[in-house]
Amino acid sequence: MRKKIVAGNWKMNKDYSEGLSLFSEVLNMVKDEVRGEQLVVVCAPFIHLNSLSGLAKGSSQVFVGAQNAHQEASGAYTGEISAGMLSSIGVEYVILGHSERRQYFGETNELLAKKTDAALKNNLKPIFCIGETLEEREGGKHFDIIKSQLAEATFHLSAEDFSKLVIAYEPVWAIGTGVTASSDQAQEIHAFIRAEIASKYGKEIADDITILYGGSCNPKNAAELFAQHDIDGGLIGGASLKSRDFVDIVKTFNN
Ligand code: PGA
Repeated sequence: MRKKIVAGNWKMNKDYSEGLSLFSEVLNMVKDEVRGEQLVVVCAPFIHLNSLSGLAKGSSQVFVGAQNAHQEASGAYTGEISAGMLSSIGVEYVILGHSERRQYFGETNELLAKKTDAALKNNLKPIFCIGETLEEREGGKHFDIIKSQLAEATFHLSAEDFSKLVIAYEPVWAIGTGVTASSDQAQEIHAFIRAEIASKYGKEIADDITILYGGSCNPKNAAELFAQHDIDGGLIGGASLKSRDFVDIVKTFNN
């Protein structure tokens, strides 16, 4: 059975003490809410990760993730952090390919293929983001964009490595805008992603891969989105910054 995941993406928010409080609240509040194949991942800025992974140590269902990692193992890359460094402090997940990294930092599918390799080599599980812009959707190109993002950045992986990925479909036009994809729109793309994976790696791997929806997901719309057959949880930005909202989204697993 594939895992159900609610992942928070704090982006560049929360100073050190705010981050500790938010994470401690989440940890406390989700204790009795997450069971079986359900997981919660909190992807925080680098400065928080060491402390948060210490706090999460006792939990079998709450994990800590980074929001980026460099593709090289070490060296003269001022200001960067490697996948090995992250796993050395107990980080287990890393967001790769977020549209903000693609847009503001010029990350390409080719670079993301290397980052994915580096993450997997260091036992980090990538939460790999794909999604089209509004212009691409309006131009009817969304299926092609999704297909090429997936194929160019991840289809070089062995089946064993590919099955360690979590995929996040995040339409760029829905991120931080308050406009959510309808559950039908999201389901349509999720089913397409799963079919693409099946044609490359076979049905068994495709059926087992967790595919998250991201983009203005909140406590009000999460239940309907997560009820779709191919939507296995969410990647939550704005609503992950308030413990109550984030935990209410986590709770929709159980509705
Ligand atoms: P949002 O962000 O929930 O604030 O739209 C989602 C994301 O960018 O991961």
